[in-house]
Amino acid sequence: MNILDPNIESYLYDVIPDRDAVLTEMEKYAEKNNFPIVGPLVGRFLYVITLAVNAKRILELGSGFGYSAYWFAKAVGKDGIVLCTDSNPEYADKAREYFKKGRISNRMQFHVSDALSVFNILEGEFDIIFNDVNKEIYPKVLRKALPRLKKGGLLISDNAFCNGKILEKNPDASAAGVLTYTRMAYASRELFNTIVPIRDGLIVSVKL
Ligand SMILES: C[S@@+](CC[C@H](N)C(=O)[O-])C[C@H]1O[C@@H](n2cnc3c(N)ncnc32)[C@H](O)[C@@H]1O
Repeated sequence: MNILDPNIESYLYDVIPDRDAVLTEMEKYAEKNNFPIVGPLVGRFLYVITLAVNAKRILELGSGFGYSAYWFAKAVGKDGIVLCTDSNPEYADKAREYFKKGRISNRMQFHVSDALSVFNILEGEFDIIFNDVNKEIYPKVLRKALPRLKKGGLLISDNAFCNGKILEKNPDASAAGVLTYTRMAYASRELFNTIVPIRDGLIVSVKL
């Protein structure tokens, strides 16, 4: 489903500058392997947000082979860290390769783990938590993530529109997960939320 007018969508992709060599290689890898990365529009959004709030400690749930994490890592700077999580160990190896190529390995730690259990492994609070795991567990992610977000920190979840499935009369489990998450976020007194309609939509929540 096209969320935006296709001409506007094309404009958004045309107007952005080329990415660096590593991101370009990652985009090609994703295309070849049909892997669902966030892509450069969302990548740039994550970069802008990270700089704007001066985020230094970021937790990413569902890192895949590290594309979105790479944008975060570039934005956190030399003294920042991105803690990546994915249940698939092959993605961790691939991500490490790309970060090495970009000479930013020291800004990333990859935990091969289920997204919900990683909260038991990692301590402390985060400036940003980015959520891009299976949509069915989004409500559980919200419950786990909220106490671990610092005040003023951001919880950002991808696929707010679930490719349009959120509009269906009988949403499937993925869309139902996203819908429940979205309602929970808007009902929370601890969060102020907005949905940013780029690509498949981002639910952006600031902890009050
Ligand atoms: C859409 S992809 C992530 C893409 C990545 N954020 C990017 O844009 O480069 C989703 C990833 O989440 C992982 N995943 C899904 N459910 C998970 C879970 N419960 N725990 C950990 N990883 C999970 C999948 O293995 C997959 O690699």
